[in-house]
Amino acid sequence: MQFHLHTESGSYVMQVTEGYLLHLYWGKKVGTYRGSSPVSLAPRSFAPYTDPAQPGLSLSTLPLEYPSYGNGDYRHPAYQMQLDNGSTVTDLRYAGHRIYPGKKKLDGLPATYVESNQEAQSLDILLQDQVTGLSVLLTYSVFRDFDAIARSVRFENNGAESLRLLRALSASVDFRDDQFDILTFYGSHSNERNINRHPLSMETQVIDSTRGASSHQHDPFFALLRPNTDEEHGDAFGCSLVYSGNFATQIEVDPYHTVRASIGINPFDFSWLLEPGESFQTPEAVMVYSSRGLGGLSHAYHHLYRTRLARGKYRDRPRPVLINNWEATYFKLSEEKLLAIAGEAQKAGIELFVLDDGWFGHRDNDHSSLGDWTVDRRKLPHGMHWLSAHLHEMGLKFGLWFEPEMVSPDSDLYRAHPDWCLHVPDRPRTLGRNQLVLDLSRADVRDYLAQSVSAVLAGADINYVKWDMNRHMTEIGSALLPTGRQRETAHRYMLGLYELMETITAQFPDILFESCSGGGGRFDPGMLYYMPQTWTSDNTDAVSRLKIQYGTSLIYPPSSIGAHVSAVPNHQVGRVTSLVMRGHAAMSGNFGYELDLTRLSEDEKETIRKQVTFYKQIRPLIQFGDFYRIKDPFEGGATAWCFVAPDHSEAIGFYFQVLAEPSPRLQTLKFRGLDPDALYENLATDDAFGGDELMNAGVSVPEEKGDFKSYVWRFRKK
Ligand code: DGJ
Repeated sequence: MQFHLHTESGSYVMQVTEGYLLHLYWGKKVGTYRGSSPVSLAPRSFAPYTDPAQPGLSLSTLPLEYPSYGNGDYRHPAYQMQLDNGSTVTDLRYAGHRIYPGKKKLDGLPATYVESNQEAQSLDILLQDQVTGLSVLLTYSVFRDFDAIARSVRFENNGAESLRLLRALSASVDFRDDQFDILTFYGSHSNERNINRHPLSMETQVIDSTRGASSHQHDPFFALLRPNTDEEHGDAFGCSLVYSGNFATQIEVDPYHTVRASIGINPFDFSWLLEPGESFQTPEAVMVYSSRGLGGLSHAYHHLYRTRLARGKYRDRPRPVLINNWEATYFKLSEEKLLAIAGEAQKAGIELFVLDDGWFGHRDNDHSSLGDWTVDRRKLPHGMHWLSAHLHEMGLKFGLWFEPEMVSPDSDLYRAHPDWCLHVPDRPRTLGRNQLVLDLSRADVRDYLAQSVSAVLAGADINYVKWDMNRHMTEIGSALLPTGRQRETAHRYMLGLYELMETITAQFPDILFESCSGGGGRFDPGMLYYMPQTWTSDNTDAVSRLKIQYGTSLIYPPSSIGAHVSAVPNHQVGRVTSLVMRGHAAMSGNFGYELDLTRLSEDEKETIRKQVTFYKQIRPLIQFGDFYRIKDPFEGGATAWCFVAPDHSEAIGFYFQVLAEPSPRLQTLKFRGLDPDALYENLATDDAFGGDELMNAGVSVPEEKGDFKSYVWRFRKK
C-alpha cells in the first residue's frame, strides 16, 4: 500500500511494508511514484530484525514515517510511551486509513485551516500497538492553493491500563542522504532570528527551547537545504511548528549517512499521562518543499500563514499606522503628555495611538501591579473611557498594552492568590523582571484574566491590543495538578493560554491584536493564529532591524512584522541613523512610530508626515504583496529587498547602504518577481523599463558619501 501526497510542486510518499509505515520520498513532484529506488533490505551487521525469515527488514536502517523505540531502531524515536509495567517499548503497525475532503480542527491548538472542504484533502493513517491498545493517528493535509503539507499526531489510549507519553513529536522525516545544510535561527532579547546555516555532520543536533516559550533564542523551525541552494534556486525543505512553548528540533545523521529530522514539543521535562479512553493531540507541523530555493520556501509559508493561519477581521485588512508611547515616556506617562504626542501623531496622519505599559495599578516601574488591570487615576485622571473618546474625537484609533500572563509580587492579585503562579512546593520563586508567571493551566486563573481584561476592553473604545509577555518560566509546577501530572504543566499552560486568547479574541472580534514577548520572544506560528501581527523586536535600531527583519521574513509574512521608527541615539544600541533610513526599514513591515513626536523639529515632523503619506500609498504592496530578499545583511551589511503585487502590476524596492565604503563599487538592485514582458514606469521619474531589464540589469544605487543611506524605487506597470 502506498500513499502519495501531491502539492503543487512536491511529492511526499509513504508505503506500508510488513505492517510498518515507511517513508519513501519527499521532494520535487513525481507524477507517479513506481519505486525506482526501493528501500534497501540488504542485511547489515548489528541490525536487529523481528522476523527471522527477513533479516534485512531491520528497523535500524529502514526509513520510517513515525518511528517507535525499542525494536531495533537506534535513531531517536518520534515518540516514546511508558507502560504501566514500566516498559518503554511499543511497536506501531499500520491498521487503516481514511482520505477525506477538507481539514479537521485540532483540539485546543492553533493550526492552519481551510474555509471550504475544496481547499484541502486530508489523510488519516491509523497505527496501532497490539499489546497496549495504543492508537496513533497520523494526519496529513494537502492544500489546493498552497505548496505545503500540514501534519499532526493524535495518541489514544484504547487499552485498559494507563500509559505515559514521554515524547510525542509532531513530525519526523527520514531522508536517504545527508548532503544538506541545516538552517535555523538563534538570538537573544533585542537580537532575534539571526540565521545559522552550516553543513550537516555526523552527529545529532538539537535546537530547542526549555523556557516555556518559543523564545528569542531559537525558533520552532528548521530547513534542510542542498549545499548550492540560494534565494532563487535549489531544493529547500522546511518544517515549522505551530506552537508557542517548549519545542525541539532534532537532526540526526546516522552512520549510513541518512538523516532523521524531527520537530515537536520538547521531550525534555515533558510527560503526559493517558488514562484509558484519554487522548493527546500534538501541535501541527507545516512542511514546505521548494525547488526555487529559500525565496520559494518563504513565499509558501507567507501565503499560507497570512491567509490560512492568521484569522480575524484584520487578516485581509490594511493595518493602521501607529504611534506607541513606550520609548517616548516609558513609565512616566501622563494624560497631558499622551495627548500632546497624539496631537502631533494626528497631524502627521498616523491612525492609531497605542498606550503601552504603565497605565494600571500603581506601576511607576517594572516592580509592581501586573495582574491588577485597573486604571491608574493618578496618571489618567479622566479614566480610560474618556481617553479613548478623546483620541477618537481627534481622529485616532486607540490601542492598549496588557501583559495578562504575569503577576507582580507587589500586586493585589498576588496578595490575594499567592498560589496562582507557577511554583513548586518548598522552593523559592525565581523572579524575572520582578515578576512571576501565572499558572494558566488553572481554569480559575484563566477565568480571572478573561474577566479582568474584558472589563477594560469593554469599558472604553479600544481598537487594538498589544499582548506582551516579559519573562520565561521557572519552577514549572502547578498547585492543582497531581504528582504524576506535574510534567504536563508547561504544555497545559500553553493550552490554557491558547484557550484564553481564543476567548478574548472571539469576544472582541473588531480589535486588532498584536502579540509581543519582550519584542520577538514568541514570534511563532502559534501566536499568529490568534494575533495577525507581532512586535518583532525591542531593538528599534534601523541597522539591527535589517538583520532581524530579514531573518524573520524567512518564514513570517511582512504583514506580521511590526516595525517602528524610534528616536536617535537609538535606545538599545546608541546608534544615530538617518530618519530616512529608519523610515525605510520600518515601512518594510507593519509601520509605526515609537518616539516623542513633540520633541522633533519642524523639519523632522514634515519628513514624518511625508513618510506616513508614502506608506499609505504602498501599504497594500507591503502588507499583501510578495516579498523578495535581494541582498543579505548577514553578508556585509548592505541590504536590499523588494515587494511585488501578486498580479505583478507594481513593485517597490529598498536598498540600505549601512556604512560608506572607500572606492565603492557600483551597486545595483535587481528586482525579482516582475513580469519580464511588461514595461514598468518609475513613479518618481517617469522613466520606463522592461521588467526583464529591471530584473537582469537592475537599477543603480546612487553613489553618496556617508553612513546609513537608504533608497527606494517604485515601479508601476504601464
Ligand atoms: C516589552 C515590549 O517588547 C516593549 O515594547 C514594551 O511594551 C515593554 N515590554 C513594556 O514593559
